Amino acid sequence: MSNRQFLVTSGLPYSNNRLHVGHIAGAYLPADIYVRYLRARGDNVRFICGSDDNGVAALKSAREEGISVEELTAKYNASQQESFKGLGIEFDIYGGTHQPEFVKTHERLSQAFFQTIHDKGYFTKRATDQLYDTEAHQFLPDRFVKGTCPSCKSDKANGDQCENCGRELDQVNLIDPISTLTGTTPILRETTHWFFRLDQLQEQIANWLRGKKEDKDGVKWRNVVINQSLGRIEAEGLKERAMTRDMGWGVPVPLKDPDAAGKVLYVWFDAPIGYISFTAELCQRLGEGENGYKHWWCNPDCKIVNFIGEDNIVFHAITFPAMMLASRDSANVQGESGEFQLPHNVVANAYVNFKMPGKEEEKMSKSRGTAVWIEDYLKDYDPDPLRYYLTAIAPEQQRSAFEFDDFITRNNGELLAALGNFVNRTMTFAHKYFDGKVPPVGNREQIDLDQIQACKDIAKRTANALEDYRFKSAQEEMMSLARAGNVYFDITKPFQTRKTDMEACGRAVNVCLQTVRTLTTIMAPFLPHIASKCRDMLSLDESSKAWDTACNALPVEHDLGEAEYLVRKIDVLETDAK
Ligand code: 2FM
Ligand code: ZN
Repeated sequence: MSNRQFLVTSGLPYSNNRLHVGHIAGAYLPADIYVRYLRARGDNVRFICGSDDNGVAALKSAREEGISVEELTAKYNASQQESFKGLGIEFDIYGGTHQPEFVKTHERLSQAFFQTIHDKGYFTKRATDQLYDTEAHQFLPDRFVKGTCPSCKSDKANGDQCENCGRELDQVNLIDPISTLTGTTPILRETTHWFFRLDQLQEQIANWLRGKKEDKDGVKWRNVVINQSLGRIEAEGLKERAMTRDMGWGVPVPLKDPDAAGKVLYVWFDAPIGYISFTAELCQRLGEGENGYKHWWCNPDCKIVNFIGEDNIVFHAITFPAMMLASRDSANVQGESGEFQLPHNVVANAYVNFKMPGKEEEKMSKSRGTAVWIEDYLKDYDPDPLRYYLTAIAPEQQRSAFEFDDFITRNNGELLAALGNFVNRTMTFAHKYFDGKVPPVGNREQIDLDQIQACKDIAKRTANALEDYRFKSAQEEMMSLARAGNVYFDITKPFQTRKTDMEACGRAVNVCLQTVRTLTTIMAPFLPHIASKCRDMLSLDESSKAWDTACNALPVEHDLGEAEYLVRKIDVLETDAK
C-alpha cells in the first residue's frame, strides 16, 4: 500500500478576513490529518494551499478598511499563515493568487488555461445585459450586488451565488437587486463576456460523477458532494457560465480581442488554478523545473484530493473538472498522461455553527460576534485541544456547533481524563518503580495479550477510517485505545501489585508502555504537539512516526525520557472571565 502519490489541497480562503474555527473544521484540519497520516504511511504527498486574493470579496473589504487591495490581501494572507502555523496545519506551500511571489506564475497558468479552452471552442462570446451602478459608474459583478434568491427566496443572495441555498446564480435573475457599493438600485447595461459551455461537457461530467457514486475503485464520495453535483445536473442540467468580469482586479483576460480590454477572469475560474500555480511555484523552489507541477497534476498515478467547505462543492465537482476536461485533446474522462487529471476525491464538510449557552445555534459571523477566531484562541490555549474538539464535532455528514462548554467538557473529560491521564499514570509508574526503564515483559496472561492485540486492532481500524476520510471515527478509534489502556490499568492494579508482586506490576507497566507506544504513532495525525511530547517521553525519534512502527515493542530496559503533563485542565472560570 505504501508509496502512493497524492496531491492534497485545501480550499483557498479569501484573503479578506481572519480564520475562525468553522473554516478550520471544514477544509484545513481534516486535510492536515489526512496528509500527516499519508506521510506516516510513507506515501509521496504534496499539500497545497494559499489565499484567494482576486475577485470582489477583497475589493469590497479593502474599501471598508480604507486600504489598498494589495495591502489588504497581504495582511490577511499573513494572518492566515500565522493561524495555520499555530494550529500545526503544515502546508508544503502557502501561496496567494495575487501575492507578489506567486502572481506571475498564477497569471501565466490561468491565462494559458483560459486560452486553451478558448481555442478548443468551449467559450461563447456574447453581449449580455448586466447590472450597472450609475452612481459608482461601474458594473456590479458578484458580491457588488445583493438581492433575493430567485430559487429559495432568501435575501442572502450575491450576484453569483446564494449564501443560503448555495445555488449559482445569474445576477440578472436576482429579485430586488441592490448595489453594495452605493445602496442604489442598479440598471441593466450591455457588456460582452465569455461564457464557458458547461452544457457541452455535461454528459462526461455526469458519467464521471456516477462512477464516484458507484464506489468503483474503492472510493466512495460523500453523499452531499454527489447530491449537490450529480443530483443538480440530473435535475436541472448544466448551463453556460460567464467566466469574465468587468473589473480591474484579477487576472486580465488574455485574448487579443478589443472587447476583452479592461476585463478579468471570474475569480472562480482562476482560484482553483491557484492550486496548480502554487504547486508549480513549489516545484520551482525545489528545483524540479518549470514543468515539475505536471508530475502532480497531469499524472494519472497521482491521486488529487480536494478538501473544501460545503459551499464550494459545485466549483470543485463540476466547474473545475469541466475546465480540465475542456483543456484536453479528447475531453474524455480518463485523460492521457500529460493532461490535467480530475480529482480522485472531493471531500466536503458542512458548516460549524456557533452556540451560546441557552441560545439557538447561529452561523459564525464577524458582525454578530459569533465567531471564534484562531488568533484569539491561540492566545489562551494550546492547539491540540482545539484540533481534538473540531475533529470530535467534525461536520462530516451535517452541520455541527461549536460550544465553549462542550469544548471544555471534552478537553477535561476526554482528552485529559482518557488520554492524558493514561499516559501520565503509566509514565509515573515507570519512573517511580522501574527507574525510568521499560520493565521486563514477564509471563503475559490473557488480559495482557488482549491489550497488546487491542493495540494492533485499533491501529488498523484507525487507519481504515482515515483511508475512508472518516476523521471523526478515526479519532474515536484512537481514543478507544487510551480508554482501553485505562481499563487495563484499573484491572491489573499496578498500584497494588507494586507492594505485593513486582513481577505482575512490571508486566502491567510494560503493557501500558507498549500501549503508549502505539498511541504515540496513531495519535500524531490528530494531535501532533501532544504526540511529539509522547515521543520525547518514550525517547523515540522521528522514525517512530511511521505507521507500521506503531506496534513495534519498546525493548525491555529501554530508557524513558522525562515525564511531563500532556493536557492542561481548562477551568470553567477561566473562560467565563472572557
Ligand atoms: O469559498 C471560499 O472561501 C473560496 N475562496 C474558496 C476557493 S477554493 C479554490 F477553488 F480556490
Ligand atoms: Zn437561495
